[in-house]
Amino acid sequence: MMEVACQSERASLLSTTTGRSRIVINRLLLSLSTVFLVFGLFMWSSGGAIVRDSFEGVGRRSSSKQVHILVISLPESEHPNSHRMARHVLDGARSVVGLDSAKLLESNKVDFEKDILSWSDAVVVGSPVYMANPHPKILELFGNWNFSKDLSGKVGAAFVSGGGISGGQEHVLTALLMALLEYRMMIVGGERWTEAFGAAAVALFLSKAEGLGRRVASVTLKLNNC
Ligand SMILES: *[C@@H]1O[C@H](CO)[C@@H](O)[C@H](O)[C@H]1NC(C)=O
Repeated sequence: MMEVACQSERASLLSTTTGRSRIVINRLLLSLSTVFLVFGLFMWSSGGAIVRDSFEGVGRRSSSKQVHILVISLPESEHPNSHRMARHVLDGARSVVGLDSAKLLESNKVDFEKDILSWSDAVVVGSPVYMANPHPKILELFGNWNFSKDLSGKVGAAFVSGGGISGGQEHVLTALLMALLEYRMMIVGGERWTEAFGAAAVALFLSKAEGLGRRVASVTLKLNNC
């Protein structure tokens, strides 16, 4: 009888001890998961920008020189897919430089002196694939820029929309980059090797456009603040 009482006492003692350490472990886990949750929320709300910025060496420092990103595409009424991509490039750029520092213009509304020469620090030109080449209206746009003006301090990038995978996008991308190089602009590709020359898309890959916008804006900020 005595032995049974002892045993049960030991058992209850044992169970309170494990109970206590279980409480300690539970609390530890709870606070750990809280830390992860808070960190996760923080990263989510910043869209990963903190890590990305420190990786790029560019922060949204209040003292940094403001830069302007101009995105150009053909009119939405005529080329809705290309324009849709342009809006994603714009969103990406705005996520880095802010709402007012990036704008989207339809190619027929671009004023070279005002919009390109004076306003922009980076120009991102988009085109749909047109018979395996950039659209004639985009080539016409390049043709209207003034070669005698100095665009060498500006960043240039390109994006292309196409009807399908292997629809000629990469070829058109490099053609657009060549044109920007002719004006001595500094060429920037996308965020990852999967968009090395810029963003090319059928409707599936719109996030690449956003990545391109972010990268153009980050690089332009960095170039203008060293
Ligand atoms: C191009 O720029 C040069 C040098 O500033 C200027 O003399 C010329 O008038 C410009 N051409 C046009 C068509 O605006």
